[in-house]
Amino acid sequence: MSRPGPRAARFITLEGIEGAGKSTVARIVGEWLTQHSIPVRLTREPGGTPLAERVRQIVLERGSEHLSPVTETLLMFAARGIHLENLIRPALERGEWVVCDRFTDATRAYQGSGRGVDAKWIEDLATAVHGSLQPDCTLLLDVPVAVGLARARGRSGSSADRFEAEVEAFFERVRAGYLEQAAREPRRIRVIDAAADLAEVEGQVIQILQGFV
Ligand SMILES: Nc1ncnc2c1ncn2[C@@H]1O[C@H](COP(=O)(O)OP(=O)(O)O)[C@@H](O)[C@H]1O
Ligand SMILES: [Mg+2]
Repeated sequence: MSRPGPRAARFITLEGIEGAGKSTVARIVGEWLTQHSIPVRLTREPGGTPLAERVRQIVLERGSEHLSPVTETLLMFAARGIHLENLIRPALERGEWVVCDRFTDATRAYQGSGRGVDAKWIEDLATAVHGSLQPDCTLLLDVPVAVGLARARGRSGSSADRFEAEVEAFFERVRAGYLEQAAREPRRIRVIDAAADLAEVEGQVIQILQGFV
């Protein structure tokens, strides 16, 4: 929030349930910034670096071993720590804008609201892992659960991971958790009606970016 200068690198995150359009909007944001000669690095969580992608595999694969919500949360923050140290902070320091598909708001929504992990504990981990670094802007792509899941299931070649295999009630809690966060932090978190057609979503996104550069 507090990096100075008119063209200081910004940290933008994309959030929302499966199929909301995060990956699609990440590409739109990346292209728009590039067209405006702003250096940009697109990345995602969990993962984003070779080592953090290995943690992603552990946390997403549907293996035979049990992962409790607390363990899942620790893995998310472990991956995030690796990602911050090796990609996000160095890129911002070089002056590149970082556009990240999911960040700590996803942990708040999925592990906190979705799985019932203690919210205060999540904030303690967030402080330990990224201190005062917060996204400058978060685009929350909001869609009804049925719409998001239908889109996610229509995506070619994806076999359901540990989250995609969850029931609708889980995603209702996640969606509600995201909207509560947006209500608490309306300046940082911008809610986009992502059920609209893509041209309309793109228009909403670009309007926000224009107010931001
Ligand atoms: N606004 C939209 N309207 C219709 N389809 C969309 C829209 N946004 C994304 N899609 C499609 O829905 C699917 C899921 O989008 P994606 O960006 O992969 O979502 P996420 O990364 O949030 O899971 C993709 O096939 C994408 O092309
Ligand atoms: Mg995606």
